[in-house]
Amino acid sequence: VTVRSAVALARREGHLALDIARRLDAADPLRGFRKRFHLPDGVVYLTGNSLGALPKATVNRLHRAIRAEWGQDLIDSWNKHDWISAPARVGAKIASLIGAEPDEVIVSDSTSMNLFKLLLGALAMRPGRRVVLTEPGNFPTNLYIADGLQRLGLCEVRLAKAPALVDAIDDDVAVVLLTHVHYQSAAAHDMAAFTEAAHSRGALALWDLSHSVGALAVDLNVCGADLAVGCGYKYLNGGPGAPAFQFVGRRHQGEFRSPITGWMGHAAPFAFDDEYVPAAGVRQALCGTPPVLALAALETGVDLVREIGIDGLATKGRALTSFFLQCVSDLEAWSGLSVVSPVDALRRGSHVALRHPDAFAICQALSAYGIVGDFRAPDVLRLGFAPAYIGFEDSWRAAAALRSVLREQRWKEPRFNEKRTVT
Ligand SMILES: Cc1ncc(COP(=O)(O)O)c(C=O)c1O
Repeated sequence: VTVRSAVALARREGHLALDIARRLDAADPLRGFRKRFHLPDGVVYLTGNSLGALPKATVNRLHRAIRAEWGQDLIDSWNKHDWISAPARVGAKIASLIGAEPDEVIVSDSTSMNLFKLLLGALAMRPGRRVVLTEPGNFPTNLYIADGLQRLGLCEVRLAKAPALVDAIDDDVAVVLLTHVHYQSAAAHDMAAFTEAAHSRGALALWDLSHSVGALAVDLNVCGADLAVGCGYKYLNGGPGAPAFQFVGRRHQGEFRSPITGWMGHAAPFAFDDEYVPAAGVRQALCGTPPVLALAALETGVDLVREIGIDGLATKGRALTSFFLQCVSDLEAWSGLSVVSPVDALRRGSHVALRHPDAFAICQALSAYGIVGDFRAPDVLRLGFAPAYIGFEDSWRAAAALRSVLREQRWKEPRFNEKRTVT
C-alpha cells in the first residue's frame, strides 16, 4: 500500500482511517527497527528532530565504554580501544550518509563551534571578500555566530531571504551560509542550485545539515558543497549534547586553516612541539581532547542509521509527513491552524510545522494525549517524524489528538499555558 493509494482510498471513503495507517505500517520495510529504540509506552515521540530517541544498543555500548574501557583499561584505552581515532572514525561513517568521502568529515565540538571555525576558515580562503551572506530566520546560532564574527571585526554579515538571496551574492561575498532543512518550516533548500549560484560569483557554500543528516539523502559532493556542519543529537540519535560534525571538501583541505589551533588539530599532537603545525586534512578542525563517551554514544546511533539505510529513511520520512498532512488537511478550514511546511514532500525535511496563535498551549495539551511535539516561538507547533521509529499509526494518533485538542479547545485550560524554560 503506497501513501498515494491509501490517500486515494481515503478520499473515496471521505476520511483517513486508522486501518489505513495500520496497513501502511504492516507494509513498512523499516517497521522492525522501532524495537531497537527505548521509547516509553503510550507516548508518540514526535521530537526526534530535536533530541533523537535512545537506541537500545547505546546502553550496552556506554556500559562497556565506562566499565571495561575507562574503568578497567584506563588511559591505555586511547590506544587499546582506539579512542583517539573516534572523531575521524565516526566522521567517516557520517560521511557515508551525506555524500562525502570518509576523510572529509570529522566529529568535534558543537555545531555552533564548528560554524565559527568553518566560517573563519572560509573567509580566509576568500581574501579580499568580507561578507558572510545568510538568511534572516536562519537557526539563531548561525546568525549569532556570524554576528559575533562581525563584532570582532572579522566579517560583515549580509542578510537576504532565499531565493532572492542569489541576487545578493556579489564580489564581496566570501561565503554563503545556509541551513539545508529549515528548523521551523522544514523547507529544504535546493543545495545544488544555491551552491552553484555561490560558485558562479566566486563565493563558497557552507551548509548546516542539522535537520537533514540521518533523515534525508544529502549529496554534498554531487552538489559541489564546500563546507558543512551538522548536529549529532537529532536524527543520528547520538544523545543529548552529542558532538557535532564538520565537512571540509577535499579540494579545500590544502588551503583550509582552522582558526582555533588546539593541540588535537596539530600534525603531531604527541610530539609536544612548541610550534603549531596544522594536521593535514579535516583533522586540523579538531581542537581539544575528544569527548570519548559522547562519541561512543554517537557512533552507536550512526551505526544504527547506516544499518537502516538512508534511502529507506528518507522515503519513509516523506511518506509519514505526507500521511500526517493528509490526516489534518481539513483543520485549516475551521481551527485557525495553517500548515507552514512545503506541500511538496521532496522540498520538505522529516518534520512538519503548523502555525497557530496558541501553538504553545496546543503543544502542551497534546502531551496530555501522549503526543510529544515542540513549540518554536512565536507561533509554530513542530512535529518530527523520525522514520527509524515512528509509524503511520503514530501519525494517525497525533492527527486525531490534534483534532480533539482543537475541537474541544482543550488548549485553553490554564495548566497548558504555563511557560517552561526549554520548549
Ligand atoms: C539548524 C541548526 N543548527 C545548529 C543547531 C545547534 O547546534 P549546537 O547546539 O550543536 O551548537 C541547531 C539546533 O537545533 C539547529 O537546528
